Amino acid sequence: RAAMVQRVDVPDSLQAAGVAASQCRRCGLCEAATQTVWGEGAPDARLMIVGEQPGDQEDLAGRPFVGPAGGLLRQLMAEAALDPGGVWLTNAVKHFKFAPRGKQRLHQSVDRQEIEHCRWWLGLELRFVQPRITLALGASAAFALTGDATPLAARRGGVEAGLHQGAVLISWHPAYILRLPDPTRQAQARQQLLADLQKARALA
Ligand code: URA
Repeated sequence: RAAMVQRVDVPDSLQAAGVAASQCRRCGLCEAATQTVWGEGAPDARLMIVGEQPGDQEDLAGRPFVGPAGGLLRQLMAEAALDPGGVWLTNAVKHFKFAPRGKQRLHQSVDRQEIEHCRWWLGLELRFVQPRITLALGASAAFALTGDATPLAARRGGVEAGLHQGAVLISWHPAYILRLPDPTRQAQARQQLLADLQKARALA
């Protein structure tokens, strides 16, 4: 009797991977989300930037980093002379995870299992784009890219070995910066993300 073997078709290009990801059912997040938010930018980028997951606006638009966190990220990228069209911009998890609250959809943090299921897609993006350096924004991206779940405070600004090919630079998530209540601390974290984007540009 033949063993039950599920055949997995491995996409042979970045574009094929994006098409396959649009049908993904590897975890339950596809049920409530509007659509898969695949990465965008230059398919041969030397720098890849990885966030946590699409937010409310990204889920509706089908594009990464188009909401408030994306506004801050794109502002800092401009200050660092980084053209979004020249990098590959993506997320550790490609569906929006939320809790409904009346008419609103409240962001919920992705868990370890969701990150591990979605790592298949991130691995394909890395394999096809082959960036020189990957910038991890926040703890979920850092865990997805390195397998290390230790807190970011001691790691931010450092370069670590990636699970896939290429080095990983660790930084704050722009949404975390926007939520910091203390304006002095917020300004400092903003400067640190800017410095990390400049460092990523130099290493790419
Ligand atoms: N936050 C993320 O981590 N990714 C996005 O695409 C938008 C907000």
